[in-house]
Amino acid sequence: MTKKQDFRTILNKVINTEDESHNTSSNDSFDQVMARARLGRRGFLKGSSSLAAAAMLGTSLAFVADSAKQTGKTAQAATNLRLSFNPVAKSIADTLTVPEGYTARVLLATGDPLKSNVTPYKNDGTDNDFEVRAGDHHDAMHYFGMNRAGNGWDASGSDRALLAINHEVCEDLGFVHPNGPTNYGSESTEARPAIEIDKEVAAHGVTIVEVVKQGSTYQINRDSRYNRRVTATTPCQISGPARRSPLLATAFSPSGERTRGTLNNCANGYTPWGTYLTCEENWAGYFNRREDDAVRTAQEVAAFKRYGIGNETSGRYNWSRADAAGNTDLYQRWDVSKTGSRPQQDFRNAANTFGWVVEIDPFNASATPQKRTAIGRFAHEGCWPAAAVAGQPLVFYSGDDARNEYTYKFVSAARWDPRDANRGMAAGDKYLDAGTLYAAKFNDDGTGEWLPLTLDNPAIANYADYAFADQADVLINARIAADAAGATKMDRPEWGGVNPVNGDVYLTLTNNVSSSSGRGVKTPLNAANPRYYADAKGETINKGNVNGHVIRWREAEGNHAATSFNWDVYLFGAKASAEADVNLSGLTDENDFSSPDGLWFSEAVPGLLWVQTDDGYYTDTTNCMMLAALPGTVGDGEAKMVTNKAVPINSDADQQVKTYMGQAASPTVLSRFLVGPRDCEITGITESPDGTVIFVNVQHPGENSGSATDPTQFTSHWPDGGNARPRSATVVITRNDGGKIAI
Ligand code: FEO
Ligand code: CA
Ligand code: CA
Repeated sequence: MTKKQDFRTILNKVINTEDESHNTSSNDSFDQVMARARLGRRGFLKGSSSLAAAAMLGTSLAFVADSAKQTGKTAQAATNLRLSFNPVAKSIADTLTVPEGYTARVLLATGDPLKSNVTPYKNDGTDNDFEVRAGDHHDAMHYFGMNRAGNGWDASGSDRALLAINHEVCEDLGFVHPNGPTNYGSESTEARPAIEIDKEVAAHGVTIVEVVKQGSTYQINRDSRYNRRVTATTPCQISGPARRSPLLATAFSPSGERTRGTLNNCANGYTPWGTYLTCEENWAGYFNRREDDAVRTAQEVAAFKRYGIGNETSGRYNWSRADAAGNTDLYQRWDVSKTGSRPQQDFRNAANTFGWVVEIDPFNASATPQKRTAIGRFAHEGCWPAAAVAGQPLVFYSGDDARNEYTYKFVSAARWDPRDANRGMAAGDKYLDAGTLYAAKFNDDGTGEWLPLTLDNPAIANYADYAFADQADVLINARIAADAAGATKMDRPEWGGVNPVNGDVYLTLTNNVSSSSGRGVKTPLNAANPRYYADAKGETINKGNVNGHVIRWREAEGNHAATSFNWDVYLFGAKASAEADVNLSGLTDENDFSSPDGLWFSEAVPGLLWVQTDDGYYTDTTNCMMLAALPGTVGDGEAKMVTNKAVPINSDADQQVKTYMGQAASPTVLSRFLVGPRDCEITGITESPDGTVIFVNVQHPGENSGSATDPTQFTSHWPDGGNARPRSATVVITRNDGGKIAI
């Protein structure tokens, strides 16, 4: 085994805990699937026209007509849009490519100073002050326009703005350290230098930074009083129904009202009152809990298991095991073992204070970030708002990004009053602390239901596998509540968004691959997750839904607070060269992609959708990318019988699954706009109010490098070039003629 393989093996052990399946619930049983397969074979009309197909959907025919009625006016607006750029070719070059006639420039990379008195980042691991530098692994972000007075939010503000940027993790390779990380990985039992832990903790979280319009583009204003970091140590309040729950009591906050830090800030959301919602995704692997089951209650053990905090983990980064310099509870808090006689004496509950949506006011550094517990706790991918309508509840959609996890939505108890648009965090208290959390059930007939996660739901109140103490327990253990309610296991829900043109809700399902628990391997296929595709890559066969898909739905009567919906699959990722039962959307060289992850609807150009990839299955042909799309509407395609070859769950027999699809994706409505440098993912996008500038994040270029210090083993040197260590970065993209992006 070469040194390089050895290094990657260790890291892979660390990383692979992240998107593991911890869903052992019986939702979607094998019997149900067999019944479904039989029904499907009997019921499907081959070569049906879309009208006949719609008729087969029963309720859906009326629905299609209904959609056309609802979207009559706005669909017209959407069809007036045209993608005006030439598609970017697939590439494995170590460079970022945008279409001819566009310019991309690096705006803010890992370690770049946020203040004018901070020295330039040396990028050799010797800078230790991430509290005043951009964090690592840039992820979701949002543009908050500034008012003319320069003291608050104005969505249309274009001269000055604050960018809120998530920093999901700190590079596993340890590029931020002089010689890579010391005693890293769950196999290690040695202490880690506190100085390394401090740096990693500070590289997580959120950056708030001011950008100023200069000519047709934006520059960082390093003198702005708004520039700051929120990190994995920043004090946060816990708000909403779980505040003061005994399950949140720690030595830091015996009453369960506070915690320190936000972690794994992946996707995001934003509110109609100008605050930022950062979401805590893969936090479970940070906590240490060794040989602790015997002294924990059955409830605690069940909750730990369901959230992936095993009895053998030392935590991805070993943050709890600092050397003598780190002998304080700032480090000990990452150890969730029971060491005291009461929860108020240790950090046994610390993991319950992560996995939330965290509200931050970008314009008010003195406002404490609030963990909004009413929106539930899971690997919280994002929190995407439906349009706020006066007099109606506010609605936010979320995904839980792990294999076989669920889709959620939160409906506020309070009804939207536009006068709250300037109330900052006080509006958050009003709308985000009380409401109903739902999990989605995608039925095989193209309909769906939202299942309330409350103790009023008998399936939850009477759940045999876990006795919920109260609504706080339901929200803290939302995954278990969704198991009880009967939600549908999905192929790793990543980003979502609401089409401003017609209210359709989109959600990327990035992939579901595992030789032991992936889709079609142990988890049955279903209409909403209908594809199994074994893909040979290198020496291994990847089993499951390898290339992912994008599902979408329309809420009943266009009402986002409704409890039923109709869905179809907007797009299936695939190689253009794949056979028809794999390349179901008819992708071509201009738009083929794999593993959709980021997804965002432009607000400046209603109807324009961006799709970003985080892929490991097509990377022999192309680096990750971003595509521009002009989607139609739910129900604009037809029913489709998918033949899946040699499905393991079905004894390696072929299995047919009926699904519902949107229209095929010709290059006129889906086209590749950007290809990133090597071993990156493209994630996070926002725009100027006039749509002439977009900001895009490039995360972890060179993540498959064989060394953190030997440049000959780096797979990327982006963005600095030469022998430089690779860095994540925000890129600003403009069109050379000053026009709107993409159209
Ligand atoms: Fe952090 Fe689900 O991507
Ligand atoms: Ca992601
Ligand atoms: Ca991803």
